[in-house]
Amino acid sequence: MLVLGIETSCDETGVGLVEGGRTLLANAVASQVEVHARYGGVVPEVASRQHVLALVPTLHRALQEAGVSLPQVDAVAVTCGPGLVGSLIVGVNFAKGLAMALGKPLLGVNHLEGHIYAAWLEPTLDPEREPGFPLVCLLASGGHTDLVLMEGHGEYRLLGRTRDDAAGEAFDKAARVLGLGFPGGPEIQREAGRATRPEPFPRVVVEGLAFSFSGLKTALVRRAQAAGLYPPAGASASPSESREAVANLAAGFQEAVVEALVEKTLEGVRRTGARGILLGGGVSANALLRQRLQQRSPVPLLVPRPSLCTDNGAMIAAAAFFRLRRGERHGWDLDAHPSLRLG
Ligand code: KG4
Ligand code: ZN
Repeated sequence: MLVLGIETSCDETGVGLVEGGRTLLANAVASQVEVHARYGGVVPEVASRQHVLALVPTLHRALQEAGVSLPQVDAVAVTCGPGLVGSLIVGVNFAKGLAMALGKPLLGVNHLEGHIYAAWLEPTLDPEREPGFPLVCLLASGGHTDLVLMEGHGEYRLLGRTRDDAAGEAFDKAARVLGLGFPGGPEIQREAGRATRPEPFPRVVVEGLAFSFSGLKTALVRRAQAAGLYPPAGASASPSESREAVANLAAGFQEAVVEALVEKTLEGVRRTGARGILLGGGVSANALLRQRLQQRSPVPLLVPRPSLCTDNGAMIAAAAFFRLRRGERHGWDLDAHPSLRLG
C-alpha cells in the first residue's frame, strides 16, 4: 500500500511517500526556517500562508523523488493535530481535495504518532521485533515534551508531559537570550561544543514523570544578565570574553535540559518495564541527548536519523499505514484539532 503523507502542523511543509509503512520512497520538506528566523520564532499567520505556497511544489518534488504518479497512490494521510490551527487547516483541506480527486481513502494522523513512526522508516530498525513492545517514547519538539508508553500499534498511554515550555521551545528561547540564531537547538548544541568551563545549572525537580523547563530559562536569563550578555545592548564584556561566556552558558543549559529528559525517560522505563526507548521530535536530533541515553539506558535505544526526527510527511504516511491496515478511514468532515492528544 502506497501512502502519501502530508505534514503542515508547524513551520515545515512536508510531503512523503511510503510503501507498506516502512519503505521510504520520498521525503520532500520545504522549511520555513528562514522566513521565521527574522522574528526569532514561528509566526502562525506567516506559517499558514507559506504552507499554501509550498504544498503543490513540495508534492511535485516528492512524486518526482519517488518516481511515481498520483494515480498510483493508495491513500492520502495528513496531520490533523496537534499544531497551529491555521497551518493544520491548510494541510487537512489540501489532503481532502487530493483524496477526493483521486477517489482514494483519507486518514487524519496525530502528529506525535507520526514522530513515533519515524523509527519504522529506518531500514536498520524494526521496533516491533527488536526490542518489541512496550516502548517508552520520548517525544520532544518545539511544541511538545511528552513521555508516552506505546503498548502496540495505536495503543498509547501518556506517562508525563511538560508543565510549561517544551524542550525545543526552551532551547529556542535560550538561544534568543544568548543572541544566537533560530531554531535554537542546533545553535545551542554548536555553542556548547566550544565551551571551556560549562556553567552549572540547578537540577530540575518535578514530581513523577512530568517535565518543566521554565525555571531553567529564568536561571539562564539571570546569568546572562549578570554576565552583561542580556539584554544584548548592555554587553559589557570584551568580545572574546562574551563569546566564551555564551558557550559556557549554552553548555550548562544544554546539560540541564538533557539531564531532565534522560532522568524522566529512564524513570519511565523503570516504572513500566518497557523493552526499549524510542526518541522522536526535533530535540531527538540533539547529540548529547542521544549519547547520554545510549550510555545510561538499560534497554535498546531507537533513534531515527536527524532528517526523520524533525517534522516531515513521510512519518505521517508511515503512521497512517498501520491504521489504514486496520480499516481506519476518515470522512470529508475531517477537521483540524490543535490540541489533539496521544494516549
Ligand atoms: O519536531 P520539530 O521539527 O517541530 C515541532 O514539532 O516543533 O522540532 C523543532 C524543535 C525546535 O525547537 C529546535 O530548536 C529543536 O527541535 N531542535 C533541537 C536540535 N535540532 C532541532 N534541539 C536540540 N538539539 C538539536 N540538535
Ligand atoms: Zn513535530
